[in-house]
Amino acid sequence: MKNRKLVMIPGPTPVVRSIQDQMGRETVAFGDPDFIKDFKEVIEDLKTIFKTEGEAFVVAGTGTLAMEMGIANVTKEGDNVLVVSTGFFGDRYVELCERKGLNVDVISSEWGTIVPVEDIEKKLKEKNYKAVTVTHVDTSTGVCAPVAEIGQIVKKFEDTVLVVDGVCATAAEPEYLDEMGIDVLITGSQKAFGVAPGLAIVLAGPKALKRRESLGTIRDYYLDFEKWIPIMNEPAKYFGTPPVNMIWALQESLRIMKEEGIENRYERHIKVAKAMQAALEELGFTILAEKEHRAVTLSNVLYMDGIDDGEFRKILAEEGAVVAGGLGAYAGKMFRLGHMGNIDTHDLVSTMSAIERTLYRLGIKDVLGKGVGTLTKELMK
Ligand SMILES: Cc1ncc(COP(=O)(O)O)c(C=O)c1O
Repeated sequence: MKNRKLVMIPGPTPVVRSIQDQMGRETVAFGDPDFIKDFKEVIEDLKTIFKTEGEAFVVAGTGTLAMEMGIANVTKEGDNVLVVSTGFFGDRYVELCERKGLNVDVISSEWGTIVPVEDIEKKLKEKNYKAVTVTHVDTSTGVCAPVAEIGQIVKKFEDTVLVVDGVCATAAEPEYLDEMGIDVLITGSQKAFGVAPGLAIVLAGPKALKRRESLGTIRDYYLDFEKWIPIMNEPAKYFGTPPVNMIWALQESLRIMKEEGIENRYERHIKVAKAMQAALEELGFTILAEKEHRAVTLSNVLYMDGIDDGEFRKILAEEGAVVAGGLGAYAGKMFRLGHMGNIDTHDLVSTMSAIERTLYRLGIKDVLGKGVGTLTKELMK
């Protein structure tokens, strides 16, 4: 009999039944009073959970659209922007900003490491930057940037807005906008929220909203905060058709989050990541990210000598777990394992066992039970 395939890539993550049920509901008119109430609740919950006095936006789109929305509302052509890049998705912000006619400076780290906070501060002192972008967790490297520390530094520069890409972090790594100095948080539905792909989620704090106001009419239309603010405050109004079922799915995801407690959710992600990473190391793999800056949402796992990436991932899928390949220079050298969102102990243990069986089939015979043993011991601590 074939194994069920657990989706253990770093997004989309497994979607639990109660969220699937919301997506499968009969769609209602977007002016339906019950839906308007639900949409309002979603917006309020986002502002409460991620702690901002500003605005929350939920629109149809992916994380990349959210990235674009984030920068389009706080900059205008010719502005200086500093991109802090710890990998592939940091670099994406470079092209995106250049297309918008922004003057982009980049500080990049070697993959697996962070950009030191002091280097960011030094850059900010050298030039007037209207915005700094930081990828909280770069999915290509599994590195978690010290956003809280960066936020405290950017706060000192009145004219600079901090835009954080939380696509692979939000709802798993702590992100409290106003107290951490995050002015714009951009994210998507398909990772730690545990919702299917399809929603771009953006939160904007007071400093970012003031910047938007100062820009007047901006070139972007669908992305314009000013077009959406009236809708997010009163979803009975229309600008673009809201993705009704996806908003219900997000509502259920937020309900699950409130039931678990956001702090508990953050703690759970730390525990799961530590356990998974210890188990992977026990099996002989190496984690790319340096220990003190490892993400809790995924592991970027370097193969031991002699393992072929294509063969490993093919056999692993047969054994019941789908993981992603490496990006950039790490294509063929690494696999990426997501462990975020609404996954439970069954998913984790089954995945680890599937990894062991895969290594066994590839000729590494002394692994059975080793990873599962370490994982379970760590989880039971
Ligand atoms: C950190 C990060 N930023 C941005 C994106 C782009 O999001 P999307 O693929 O939903 O457009 C991704 C996608 O994986 C990501 O991991």
